[in-house]
Amino acid sequence: MPVFRYRWSSRPGPLTVEDYRERARRAVPDMVWAYVDYGAESMTTLNANRAAFDRYMLKSKVLTGREAKDLGTTIAGQDISAPILLAPTGAAGLSHWTGELGAAQGAEAAGTLSIVSTAASYSFEEIAAGTRRGHFFQLYPWADTTTGRHDLTHAMMKRAANAGYTGMFVTVDVPTHGNRESEQKRGMGNPPVLTPARVLNAGLRPKWWAAFLRHERMSLRNLVDPGEKAGGAKTAMKTLNRQFRMMRPELNWDDFAWMRENWHGPLYIKGVLDAADAVRAVELGADGIVVSNHGGRQLDCAPAAIDALPAIAAGVGDRAEVLVDGGIRRGTDIIKALCLGADGVCIGRPYLYGLAAGGPDGARHVVEILKTEMRRAMTLMGVAELAELDESWLIPAGAPVPVVDR
Ligand SMILES: Cc1cc2nc3c(=O)[nH]c(=O)nc-3n(C[C@H](O)[C@H](O)[C@H](O)COP(=O)(O)O)c2cc1C
Repeated sequence: MPVFRYRWSSRPGPLTVEDYRERARRAVPDMVWAYVDYGAESMTTLNANRAAFDRYMLKSKVLTGREAKDLGTTIAGQDISAPILLAPTGAAGLSHWTGELGAAQGAEAAGTLSIVSTAASYSFEEIAAGTRRGHFFQLYPWADTTTGRHDLTHAMMKRAANAGYTGMFVTVDVPTHGNRESEQKRGMGNPPVLTPARVLNAGLRPKWWAAFLRHERMSLRNLVDPGEKAGGAKTAMKTLNRQFRMMRPELNWDDFAWMRENWHGPLYIKGVLDAADAVRAVELGADGIVVSNHGGRQLDCAPAAIDALPAIAAGVGDRAEVLVDGGIRRGTDIIKALCLGADGVCIGRPYLYGLAAGGPDGARHVVEILKTEMRRAMTLMGVAELAELDESWLIPAGAPVPVVDR
């Protein structure tokens, strides 16, 4: 063990998700940053997702002689090293040219799995070929679902099943697109608006720019047929427009029931904030619920995900798994989510920060940071096993510590 280490920079490597966020901010053009980091309208929900965690403190017991070592669990029938999945994020190729493939590889290296978006920059097949485990896939139900025909939706489901995806996550909180004005103001409209200043801004990130031009990961590969050439900006706009046309407010529970009938693996419904909706989904055969407000990107003023969680966990009980996402940036956030009834969490932006700053290894490191933080915090609390975490470990911030004898 050396007595000291010498470095040129006084800045240590990234130690936290926030460190990765700062690096990601510098790695990508402002337009891309607006797409990744901002939310809908006044960003009330985006900010609430974070603030809600701070309303809880964690109880701790001393001299327990206990240490948290194993965080392993099973979600949707798959063993993972910690209750953390990578949430689906479309067009991750904008954050880093390795996109969803790099994210899935990073997830695997950290012992977990990724939920690959329909709107990915890599096709389901490309990701399956570049990874070792069966990951999950996220479905945006298409407009044809509402016509009584389900050809497009069915084709997408079959495509994912053939490529080896083990679980399907249907996203239901996008009956129409969220109003992300801050993206539009920075040129991320449909189509993106380039100005000399924006081109210059991208040019100031030569590494990003060179990789972006070289690897052409602008288009959404699952929206073109496997044989169709997916390449430059023109195809990207064509596929994006196709996607926009396909979002429909008419989607309803009959469509969900149809999906249940036609998907034979684990089925999760993503984007639920209401306990009665969660119970209805379970009654229709959902294996899991993802409590989510889409990271504050859809309905602004929707409640913080963590505030919607307790009622949903209570309503669903043991009939289905419950995951939550939105605003998770620390291991202690995950502990709080588990105390409030979640079986696991998904992270969205945190791994995109890792990916933007450090490629697949950055995504892996972000998951490892969260795992290390979780293990340390649980040991400091005197908790050794995930199963011990329940509401009794939470104290409302600012309230006196309650007397509970264990
Ligand atoms: C850039 C970006 C793209 C996203 N794309 C999708 C998507 O294609 N499908 C989906 O179901 N959710 C999508 N989401 C929402 C995430 O799955 C997840 O719900 C959200 O990011 C969780 O919040 P967090 O970013 O604070 O962790 C996206 C989120 C971001 C940040």
